[in-house]
This record gives sequence, structure tokens and C-alpha cells, in this order.
Amino acid sequence: MAQPPTSSGLLIRNAAQIATGTGPAMRGPELGSLRLHAPASLYAENGKIVAVGPPGEVERKVEGAPRIVDASGNAVIPGFVDAHTHAVFAGSRVDEFVDKIRGLSYAEIAQRGGGILSTVKAVRAAGKTELKELTRARLQSALEHGTTTMEIKSGYGLDRDTEIKMLEVVEELRAEQPIDLIPTFLGAHAVMPDESRGSYLEKLLAMLPEAAGKSAFCDVFCDPSYFPVPESRRLLEAARKLGMKLHLHAGQFSKDGGIRLGLDLGARSMSHLDEITDEEIALLGKSPTAAVLLPGVALFGHTPLPPARKLIGSGAILAIASNFNPGSCPSLSMPLMIALACMQLGLSPAEALSAATVNGAYALGLEGVGTIEPGSRADLVILDLPDYRLLPYYFGVNHVRTVVKGGRLAWQR
Ligand code: NIG
Repeated sequence: MAQPPTSSGLLIRNAAQIATGTGPAMRGPELGSLRLHAPASLYAENGKIVAVGPPGEVERKVEGAPRIVDASGNAVIPGFVDAHTHAVFAGSRVDEFVDKIRGLSYAEIAQRGGGILSTVKAVRAAGKTELKELTRARLQSALEHGTTTMEIKSGYGLDRDTEIKMLEVVEELRAEQPIDLIPTFLGAHAVMPDESRGSYLEKLLAMLPEAAGKSAFCDVFCDPSYFPVPESRRLLEAARKLGMKLHLHAGQFSKDGGIRLGLDLGARSMSHLDEITDEEIALLGKSPTAAVLLPGVALFGHTPLPPARKLIGSGAILAIASNFNPGSCPSLSMPLMIALACMQLGLSPAEALSAATVNGAYALGLEGVGTIEPGSRADLVILDLPDYRLLPYYFGVNHVRTVVKGGRLAWQR
């Protein structure tokens, strides 16, 4: 009979392969330079990785009797870091899905009263407990698909009480389930039709100090129809003064100067970037701002693909995320995003893996996360496949066998 573990250690034994990017971020063409160990074992203690290397060598460093997971025939990769989601919402927008299939655009759907505002109605009507239970179930599904860190934005409240309710849902779930949640205040996601943009902006500025106490980042949907550059700048500068780090929705539908704004303000990340000029690509390539691409959006909404290869060529720190939300990407599967990054954006499996792990962590300002190196957090995915490249190849099926979060088994098939 197997002996019960007597230490906080975890030994993952005899993996077919351990594949990882390297920290703190993988810029430009180095995105695909994974570190591969094959075959390999891994030892983690107190939530951190202590040793990775050939079986036998790692086992000699083990102290006491750790929990042992046999990974024969399996590849081990870092847990996914999903750097852009809107996972707190109520209701679905399945009617819009059908309209989209019939050819209506995001803007046309919004004009008919759909879009972000229809989710705002549902979120305002939902109690905190209901919202929390809906989100908890989604987080469990994300965990089962290998996500161990997730950014979550507010933005379906558009008033003080509902925005704070959303941030409290994230705060409470942070303590109650294994995925690390990084909250972002996105009060500037849209404006209610009965309100002027100017008066809502003043309300947002007043909300900021309270929101700053509940979120690490401030984000704005920078777009001529939502928050044009001058309004976006005003809010983001105020957020920065309060010590918040910045994300930005930029270049989703138009080349409106949003990308230059994010660069100018030193945003930690900018997302979407479907509409971007060559000059902006060159600037982004030299900047410390992560370029977060959202391949599920183009698939779901038939929108243009962002120029991933040009961004990599320019030296940008490229990440991929799900953008899980009820309107533009109702999928939270990071394995699917990796497959789409390969098949639609032209990334190699190695590049897509780094973009979904270490570079996602960089986009969230996290160090020692998203890699399998001594000293980094033991957030791991064991695949039921012997080679990480098979993950996007056999797409559409969940190949996650085991998820380890902070050195503990968080989920097993
Ligand atoms: O990132 N662009 C703004 N926000 C989301 C869409 C949210 C929604 O449609 O509900 C996005 O695509």
C-alpha cells in the first residue's frame, strides 16, 4: 500500500516531457524558445518549484515523503495565465449569437439594445450571491481546462453599486477557490443610453479611489463609440495617480490613437490590437507593454485577425488570453486559444504556450508565475499527451489530466 505523504512536498515523477517558457517575459522572436526536459521529474515544496530535471537526479533532492504523482507518458506545462476576462456576468447573449450568424455586426447588435448594455441589465438584476455562484462554476470549468491565474474585469455595472458588487464577487472568490484572481476596474466599458459620457466620466473619477482599493488594474474600452482617447486619458491618468496599473482595450474596431495612448501612459498591457498601424507595431515592439491577443474573438465574431507575426517580428511581448465574456467570446478554454493562436494567428505551438503562460503573467505584472523553473510558483498542468505540441493539434478536446496550484493538487480527471 502507498505510504501517505508526510511533507508538504510534491514529486511529479517520470514525465515524458516538461516544457516551459522562461521568465520574466519572452520578447519577440525568443517567444518560441522553450526549455524542454525529457524525460523529467519535478519537485515542489511550500508552493514553489525546487528542482526540475532528469528522473533520479530530482528524486535525490526530495526531503521526507512527498505526495507523488506519476506522469509517465504525460507532458507537464505551466498552468495557464488568462490575462483578459470578463468572467463575472449573468445571463447569456445567445440571441445575439444567432443574429451574428445571420451577419449582424457587434455595432449593429449594440444599436438594437444588445451588446454590453444587455449584460449590464442582467448583472444589475442579479444578487451578489447569484453572481458569485455563476462565476464560481465558470472558474471550476477554467481550472479543469488548466487555468491557474485569471484576470477578471468589472464593467457590467456602469454604476457605483454594481461595479463594486462585481469587484466584491472577485474578492470573495479569490479566497474560496484555487485560481489566483487578479481584479481590474473597467467602469469605463460603456455608457448607459440615458446618461451623457461627460457626466458618467465624472462619476467614474469619483468611483476610482474605492475601486482602487479593490482592484490592481484600471482598464478602459478606448474606442470612438465608447471612450474616445481624451476621456480614456483622463481616467487612466487619474487611476495611475492612485497607484493603479493600467490595461487598455485598444484597436478593437478602429485605428483611433488608443494604442499610442497606452504606450504613452506605460500601460502594462493592451488587448485586441486588430486595428494597428505599422508604426504602432514598431513602437509596441520596443515598449514594456504586453500585446494581449484574443484569438477567440475573431473566431466568434468574424472580425479581422490581429497581426501576430508582425508583432512578434517587432520584438513585442506577445500574450494570448481568452477574453471570456458573454458577447465577443463565450469560451474560457485556454487550450482552445492556444489552438487558435496556432491555426489562425500563425504561432508555433511553442510560441502559443509561452504566450498563454509566462507572457500572460507578465501582462498581469506577476513574476515567478507561468514558468517551471526553480523558485517559480508550482502552478502546473499535466496533459494526457506525451508532447505539448499535441495540445493544439488534437484541438477541441480537453487534454488536461491534472492541475496543480501552488504545489497542491487542485483538480484531477
Ligand atoms: O473585450 N470590447 C469590450 N469588451 C469586451 C466585450 C464585452 C461584451 O460584449 O460584453 C471585449 O471584447
